[in-house]
Amino acid sequence: LAKVEVEMNNIPEGKNLVIKWRGKPVFVRHRTQDDIDDARSSSLDVSKLRDPQKDEERVKRPEWLVLLGVCTHLGCVPIGEAGDYNGWFCPCHGSHYDSSGRARKGPAPLNLEVPEYDFNDDEGKIII
Ligand code: FES
Repeated sequence: LAKVEVEMNNIPEGKNLVIKWRGKPVFVRHRTQDDIDDARSSSLDVSKLRDPQKDEERVKRPEWLVLLGVCTHLGCVPIGEAGDYNGWFCPCHGSHYDSSGRARKGPAPLNLEVPEYDFNDDEGKIII
């Protein structure tokens, strides 16, 4: 299957990159410490989320978040650095995702999907 390589150096902290992978958008976000703290906040009761997942289960490294950019409601492409939860906002019907890509508000039933990926540290790349 086709792989896509992303140069980590090209994504400054706090930025999202959108790439195409097998015809679908993939989001790669270089998270700030604030993003990570937000996603792991002790004031967030993960068990009460509609798709309960800890941030730790969704990332391989805290500073890198990789997501399929397909809204789990009806498949629109959410907008980055938007919404009420410091994550993504889907303009089609108003779903909000947090800085871990988890569905927090609006009609989306599930979190943004995390695709398979790996780090290649020798080359400074994420391979999706
Ligand atoms: Fe995203 Fe409906 S497709 S909210």
